[in-house]
Amino acid sequence: MQRELAEFKKNFEERLAAAKKEKIKIVLKEQYSDAFDILADCENANLIPGIIGPPGTGKTLLLRAYAEKTGRDLYWVTGDEGVRPSHLTGAFNPSIVLNKGFGLEAFEPGPLLKSMVNGGVFGLNEGNRLSEYVQNSLLDPFEERSISVQRLGRIKAEEGFFPVLTMNPEEMSGAHRLSEALRDRIRVWIRLGYPRKQTELEIIKMNSPEYNISDATLEKIYGLVSATRLSTDIEIPASIRAGISIARLSAEMTKRKKEKNVTHATLSEASTYVLVGALRFRPGIDTEPAVNALVRRSLGS
Ligand SMILES: Nc1ncnc2c1ncn2[C@@H]1O[C@H](COP(=O)(O)OP(=O)(O)OP(=O)(O)O)[C@@H](O)[C@H]1O
Ligand SMILES: [Mg+2]
Repeated sequence: MQRELAEFKKNFEERLAAAKKEKIKIVLKEQYSDAFDILADCENANLIPGIIGPPGTGKTLLLRAYAEKTGRDLYWVTGDEGVRPSHLTGAFNPSIVLNKGFGLEAFEPGPLLKSMVNGGVFGLNEGNRLSEYVQNSLLDPFEERSISVQRLGRIKAEEGFFPVLTMNPEEMSGAHRLSEALRDRIRVWIRLGYPRKQTELEIIKMNSPEYNISDATLEKIYGLVSATRLSTDIEIPASIRAGISIARLSAEMTKRKKEKNVTHATLSEASTYVLVGALRFRPGIDTEPAVNALVRRSLGS
């Protein structure tokens, strides 16, 4: 048991170092470089931005890259009804309180407080899914850059604290609305869509560096992925993630089969494995036959 724990500790330290060393890989052009510049403008002008884009368009990656380029950490919360203000701010650890009382050493800070104290980028993912009560608890930190921590006092955020909201477009009008008060604090709206073809192909390549994927295969993958975005039968189309997954899986299958190029059969198979879970069809449409038909239509049979 002792040995197991020591081993885990050593490995954990190693993994921490690995995370610190990891450089973010991003294709920073077109909508991504524009969004990056506007983020910087917002920060300089003291305005809070919201990034709106369908799933998998690079919202999180963009924030990570922004935090890294400006030498800060990114703190992150994803909203849902179960999130309480203490999940954002932090809470006292009862067992430490028992021995040491309500002091700072007994307090376990949450991501919002950490980013305010350390001066980090604070990403609020799907803030609209937070209860109104929790959304309202963000008004002070966002507007006044200050927060009250129970029993510890009121703090003023460090200079580098930069809150950014990210959201999916349909959530703007859907069941989970951003509270009027919070929406009013988001001053600038940055839209991310699906990138242009050449940019998306570059993104797929960047995310499959160990494979040598031919341009012909990339073209086919893009054709398939973009077809899902045009189809009126599909509510949630293939994201950039799906394209990356098809590229990687088909390349790996080709390697295993010791084939020279990605064949039509391999690409169809890999696409089906990915798309049955990646797409959401309109109600009443059976997923599997619909995916098969889509793959056949786009890649040929
Ligand atoms: N500009 C880009 N350069 C390189 N990779 C990218 C780029 N945009 C997206 N990706 C890749 O696409 C995938 C999805 O990106 P990310 O997780 O940032 O999307 P998201 O918009 O935050 O999605 P969600 O709405 O599901 O949270 C990741 O694998 C990411 O590396
Ligand atoms: Mg994300």
